[in-house]
Amino acid sequence: MGLFDLSGRVAVITGSSRGIGRAIAREASRAGASVVVSSRKLDACQRVVDEIRESGGRATAVACNVGVKADLEALVAHALREYGRIDILIPNAAINPAYGPSSEVSDEVWNKVLTTNLTATNWLSQLVLPGMAENGGGSVILLSSIVATVGAANIGVYAISKAAEAQLARNLAVEWGPRGIRVNSIAPGVVKTDFAKALYENPKAAATVANMTCLKRLGEPEDIAGAAVFLASDAARYITGQFILVDGGASIFTPIG
Ligand SMILES: NC(=O)c1ccc[n+]([C@@H]2O[C@H](COP(=O)([O-])OP(=O)(O)OC[C@H]3O[C@@H](n4cnc5c(N)ncnc54)[C@H](OP(=O)(O)O)[C@@H]3O)[C@@H](O)[C@H]2O)c1
Repeated sequence: MGLFDLSGRVAVITGSSRGIGRAIAREASRAGASVVVSSRKLDACQRVVDEIRESGGRATAVACNVGVKADLEALVAHALREYGRIDILIPNAAINPAYGPSSEVSDEVWNKVLTTNLTATNWLSQLVLPGMAENGGGSVILLSSIVATVGAANIGVYAISKAAEAQLARNLAVEWGPRGIRVNSIAPGVVKTDFAKALYENPKAAATVANMTCLKRLGEPEDIAGAAVFLASDAARYITGQFILVDGGASIFTPIG
């Protein structure tokens, strides 16, 4: 078995009906993993599962709103019933429902963003990591963001949730490392998904953002999936607690000098 091979491993990925989560599900399957595809919409997840099965992979779909603890419990129960174990956990689902300064953010939006993007990740970790440790370990990959590293004028609560995800990955890495579980966060730059639609569908805004990367283009979901498969695999077996920017070099680019 090569270092990048995920054969025999079981991956649970939230928010995998589209966007980055779907790309990770497809690539994890190509690397040999059995994949549990989930989001709030079962039919959309089933389409991803059908596609994976048509290309010879193993996958199953579950509807799960990550902000509802009972849904997360049902997701874990489904994964264990279908495949008997969870080796790779990727809490990927997140929302960013508001745009505007912090002074205008309602308590409702604040709580919803933090519950969906952060608290739910901790809930899912609490449900999965003890069993993962009993099986000898595994890999957990949280989705942070490039905005976790900068001040954000208009997506402030979202940026707080993503900075906290990076910290949660570090905390969990310390806590679970002795039991064989690695925990890292991936911080994408701007990736062409529904999430960033408002930005990349505006040609001027898209060009501006592309120009702020070294590679002079926006990210594709598959650009993030490669990093996730790497972190899930034994190729990353000595990497834990890290915050890995996958941003086409946006974080190191400066137009000055
Ligand atoms: N795209 C970017 O530029 C970018 C940049 C940095 C970080 N990220 C991070 O990357 C991750 C994936 O983002 P994306 O761009 O792929 O987003 P996306 O295209 O909007 O997809 C979001 C996925 O999450 C699901 N979802 C939304 N709310 C959910 C909930 N409450 N419970 C369960 N599933 C839910 C959606 O499916 P349903 O609607 O069917 O539930 C969908 O499958 C997020 O953590 C995001 O913060 C994205």
